[in-house]
Amino acid sequence: MATPFNAILVLSILISSCLSSAAQTCSSYTFSNSKVFSSCTELPHLGASLYHNYTASTNTLNIAFKAPQTSKGWIAWGLNPNGAKMVGSQVIVAFFHSNGSMVAYPTQLDSYAPSMAPEKLSFPVSDVSTEYINKEMIIFATLGLVGGGSKFNHVWQEGSTVLNDVPEAHSTTGENIQSLGTIDFQ
Ligand SMILES: *[C@@H]1O[C@H](CO)[C@@H](O)[C@H](O)[C@H]1NC(C)=O
Ligand SMILES: *[C@@H]1O[C@H](CO)[C@@H](O)[C@H](O)[C@H]1NC(C)=O
Repeated sequence: MATPFNAILVLSILISSCLSSAAQTCSSYTFSNSKVFSSCTELPHLGASLYHNYTASTNTLNIAFKAPQTSKGWIAWGLNPNGAKMVGSQVIVAFFHSNGSMVAYPTQLDSYAPSMAPEKLSFPVSDVSTEYINKEMIIFATLGLVGGGSKFNHVWQEGSTVLNDVPEAHSTTGENIQSLGTIDFQ
């Protein structure tokens, strides 16, 4: 009766390794570019995490946003200075361009069918970069939070498709309509 015992042993090893990887926190993650952030938050939906450094004296926010994705999809994260939901949000989106490079840029979600074209935001954005590692897309950026204090409504999102270098609409069910909240960067 060695076989069932071995099967149980293998199963219990599998279960314990799954549990330990699920227990891994955002703070134990090492970015390939060696960037380090003083805070991170595991967001409650879409498996996403937000890393940040906030400098109150200059109202500057350095962020990394990380979420699981296939190479065909897109991710986005941003702030909504004037509302709590998608419309009005000032976001940064990332995906693989058809030329094979990842691209990331700011865009305004001015309606439920935004253009998703590169645009200026209502606050300064600089040092935008992106990478794809271990089936996760990551956005890095520096934001100037002009006079807004440290507490914001934020939104995050992912979609499975990019068509002609434009991110297509995300799912409108489940976690894809729950991925918003408030965050205090202080
Ligand atoms: C965040 O702040 C820490 C501590 O000041 C610093 O070591 C780190 O380089 C900063 N990270 C970024 C991405 O600015
Ligand atoms: C791919 O296109 C993007 C956006 O136009 C551009 O920034 C990037 O340099 C291009 N990469 C290559 C390898 O041509």
